[in-house]
Amino acid sequence: MSSRSVADGAAGSSEVIDYYANKLPDVMRKYGPGPRVHFHLGLFPPGERPNTSVPRETLRKRLIEAQENMLDFAAETWGVSANPPQRILDVGCGFGGGAIYWAQRCGAAVTAVTNVPGHVPVVRELATAANVSHLVSPVVMDANELAVPVRHDAAVAFESVCHLDRRRAFAAVAAALRPGGWFALEDHFLLRDEWAGMINGYYRTNLGTVREYRESAEACGFTLERDTDITDRVLEFWVQSMAWTASELDHAYASKEWPLPEKRLIDSLIAHGRFFRAWRDRAAETRMLLFRLPG
Ligand SMILES: C[S@@+](CC[C@H](N)C(=O)[O-])C[C@H]1O[C@@H](n2cnc3c(N)ncnc32)[C@H](O)[C@@H]1O
Repeated sequence: MSSRSVADGAAGSSEVIDYYANKLPDVMRKYGPGPRVHFHLGLFPPGERPNTSVPRETLRKRLIEAQENMLDFAAETWGVSANPPQRILDVGCGFGGGAIYWAQRCGAAVTAVTNVPGHVPVVRELATAANVSHLVSPVVMDANELAVPVRHDAAVAFESVCHLDRRRAFAAVAAALRPGGWFALEDHFLLRDEWAGMINGYYRTNLGTVREYRESAEACGFTLERDTDITDRVLEFWVQSMAWTASELDHAYASKEWPLPEKRLIDSLIAHGRFFRAWRDRAAETRMLLFRLPG
């Protein structure tokens, strides 16, 4: 496929920052209140299709549980329990759900990198609520140009590298890791070019291919150690998410109360329907990649 150049990555651009800066109310209503608040897809057990004719709160809890499953599965896949990293870089940390998870799971000191200044106090507050404020350090930085004073044992990135300029981002992460350190990410990849405009336009991303990620990483000394396809397990997340949004709309029409704007909910419902088809048709896929530096 001929995607936009990776150098076009909208990373650090004001459009991406604005997009995420305005997401807090939506994310909190759907995936909050935390303290581990995530903004990424979730995993369902293979073949599981839970009934969607259930109360809205049941759907919401299911989505959050699926997001947590994603982290548990990542930890297991990347061998974190056998060799827990003591210093972790969370690239594109969102509202800090992942950073808090790694601090609690490994007792690690986590540098949580965000490009949205307004997310720093949110991450701090949630880390305090989770009793890990001494371990989680949120910093505002463009992940393409990381400048961290210490070397980390590992870096993780959940659905954030799709926003970045991969050539610069992999180099920046490599420089932030100690020799032998690893960089593991969960992300979406484009298989059919005709979907690029719709997906990238909605999420302000610059989706790439596994090959492009691998080549950018290898140019910085990384070796791809593990490539795990989770597309079939995230597919159900789109369905459950659509069910929650439809239920949110039904509730708002009935009560005449609009915690989230009608247009945003309708746009989300339409987009998620399209994403479901794109993922089911394998126009896009979701994978976990584990890279390691020598040494
Ligand atoms: C889909 S969200 C995922 C957030 C978090 N990793 C999670 O799983 O909950 C993508 C995140 O990447 C961050 N991001 C995008 N471009 C970035 C950049 N250039 N530098 C740092 N963070 C960036 C956004 O602020 C956002 O928090």
